[in-house]
Amino acid sequence: MPIIEINNLTKDYEVGFWRKRKVRALDGLSLTVEPHQIFGFLGANGAGKTTTLKLLMRLIFPTNGSARILDRDISDVSMHARIGYLPESPYFYDYLTAREFLNYCGELFGLNRNVRQARSEELLTRVNLDRKSWDRQLRKFSKGMLQRVGLAQALVNDPEIVFLDEPMSGLDPVGRREVRDLIAALRGEGKTVFMCSHILSDIEVLCDSVAILKGGSVARSGSLEELRAAETNAIEVIATCHAPALLKLWLKDLATVSTTPAGLRIEIGDEKDVDVILAQLRAVNGKLISVNPVKQSLEELFLG
Ligand SMILES: Nc1ncnc2c1ncn2[C@@H]1O[C@H](COP(=O)(O)OP(=O)(O)O)[C@@H](O)[C@H]1O
Ligand SMILES: [Mg+2]
Repeated sequence: MPIIEINNLTKDYEVGFWRKRKVRALDGLSLTVEPHQIFGFLGANGAGKTTTLKLLMRLIFPTNGSARILDRDISDVSMHARIGYLPESPYFYDYLTAREFLNYCGELFGLNRNVRQARSEELLTRVNLDRKSWDRQLRKFSKGMLQRVGLAQALVNDPEIVFLDEPMSGLDPVGRREVRDLIAALRGEGKTVFMCSHILSDIEVLCDSVAILKGGSVARSGSLEELRAAETNAIEVIATCHAPALLKLWLKDLATVSTTPAGLRIEIGDEKDVDVILAQLRAVNGKLISVNPVKQSLEELFLG
C-alpha cells in the first residue's frame, strides 16, 4: 500500500497587488510513493516541487485535490509527529547554537531532556557538522553547514518519512557525497525518503523510483530502469567495412548510418532488423565490432 498518495492536486497562487491574477503552480498532480524507498521528485526550477512539499506539510492549502500520508488525509496534522521535513530555505533562529536549535526542535516533539540532548549530539555527528561548530550561533554558519543542521532537524523525531527539498543544495562535492550516503542509510533503516531536486545526477544515483514534474503535473514516473527503457528499443551496430558507401546505400531504408571514430554506426529502430544488418555486413566482408541497445539518457527524458 502506498505511504504517500497525491490525487489531482492543483494549486493557484494569487499574484499582483492591485490587479490580482492567478498563477497555476500545480495542475492536477497525482502520484503514489511506496514505503521503504527513496522517491525522487525531479523537475526544473519553477516546476512546482517546493509547492508540492508545502502543500503536503500543510503550510499552504490546495486549490483542488487531496493527498494522504501514512494513510491519513493531510488535513490531519497529527501525522506530522511521524514525518520529518527539510524546507528549501530552512528558517533558523539566528542566535541559537546548533545544539540549542536541535534541542528546541526535540522539545517541540515532546522528547524529554535527556533523550533530546542525546539525540541532538547523535544527529550532529551523523550529519558531519564539525564538533567545534556545535556550540556556535547559526547566524555564523555557511549555507552548507545550515543544510546539515536542517537535515539533523528533519530527523529529530526519528520519522518514518523524510521530505527533503533540494537536500544537496549549498554543499560542495564532499558534502553532497556525505548527504547522499546519509539518505541511502535512511533507506537502510526502513525509512521512506521523498526528495526533490532539479539535479538529475543526485536523483539518478539514489532513487528507487522517480517522477518527473513538468507543467504542474507528472510527465513520467516509474523506476529509473522503466523510465530509461520507456523510449528506447533502438539498437546500434558498430562495424567496419571496405565499402561503406555501398552499405549505406543498401541500408538507407532500414537504418541511419554514420561514420564514427569507432567505425560505421548503424542505428536501427527495431531489434528484429539486426539479422538483416548482419547479413548485409557479411555480404560486403564487413567486420562486426559491437551491437548495443541505445539507451535514451534520463537527461533527454528530463529535458525533452
Ligand atoms: N508564494 C508564491 N506566490 C506566487 N507564485 C509562486 C509562489 N511560490 C511559487 N510560485 C510560483 O509557482 C511555480 C512553482 O514554484 P516552486 O514550487 O517554487 O517550484 P520549484 O520548487 O520546482 O522550483 C513557479 O512558477 C513560482 O514562480
Ligand atoms: Mg523549489
